[in-house]
Amino acid sequence: MMVDKCSIYKYILTGLRYLKYNKPRYNSKPSLTSITFDRDDITGYNLIAGPSTLLPYCVGKGAIEEVIGVLEKLEKDEYAEYLIEYYKDGLERFGKNWVYADITTVLIGLSSIIMPENYLEVGVRRGRSLAMVLSKSPECNAVCFDMWVPNYAGMDQPGPDHVTREMKKFHHSGKLEFINGDSHETMPQYFKQNPNVYFDLITIDGDHSPNGASMDLTHALPRLKVGGAVVFDDIVHPSHPSLITVWKNYIVSDPRFISYSFTDLGYGVGFAIRKY
Ligand SMILES: C[S@@+](CC[C@H](N)C(=O)[O-])C[C@H]1O[C@@H](n2cnc3c(N)ncnc32)[C@H](O)[C@@H]1O
Repeated sequence: MMVDKCSIYKYILTGLRYLKYNKPRYNSKPSLTSITFDRDDITGYNLIAGPSTLLPYCVGKGAIEEVIGVLEKLEKDEYAEYLIEYYKDGLERFGKNWVYADITTVLIGLSSIIMPENYLEVGVRRGRSLAMVLSKSPECNAVCFDMWVPNYAGMDQPGPDHVTREMKKFHHSGKLEFINGDSHETMPQYFKQNPNVYFDLITIDGDHSPNGASMDLTHALPRLKVGGAVVFDDIVHPSHPSLITVWKNYIVSDPRFISYSFTDLGYGVGFAIRKY
């Protein structure tokens, strides 16, 4: 059989592409990757769902009702009580037409689809955002970074034992690891000690300074699986006006991610899916 040079070249190229995209960048296949995953000229087909598909799960009535259900189970502080009232008011006035999202609706929606096996969170506080994830994926292993800043945002900061007790309400059976201390130092240390750990879902909601949030994204993003999601909170929080720029610089303008930003109401939230 005659084999021309062009065919050999194409064959080698296909092999190289296959190796490039199949190197062990993650522990197991996350649910948003598609069956096609071996060519670099079709990155648009690496995924089966992007933010447009995920929005109905993350924004509006269905997600908000689920969030209220989780918040009702948690020990409430002033902020949680206010939010529940706010959600109920929005639903009463606008019903299914209410377009609202925040970190909780996005996390509960993404978790219901992705069903993360490995979750990383920077900024745990009382476990509100963590509860959204674990209520949907109770077997998930969670790695939680917090330095437990006392009296954070003027509210009680009860610490990891409280969060562990709260997560039992959701029958959490996975591993719950607290990495206590400044995430700018503890995250690189953790990754050095755990070189093969990758995540289906990552939330960055710790240090809200522009440098601090940038550092957390820089450290965490390389450990996000292809097909996994990153959530970034407070992108229009009036006390943190630089966070929107950090979000745009690190995620929105990066072609590896397809992103969605909600900025209409509340403090705003962004999420993105890693395409390649
Ligand atoms: C906004 S709260 C997190 C709220 C939580 N994600 C939720 O949705 O309820 C921010 C948390 O980040 C923690 N934090 C702030 N700076 C940090 C840093 N440099 N390293 C680790 N944790 C930090 C604070 O102690 C606080 O508990």
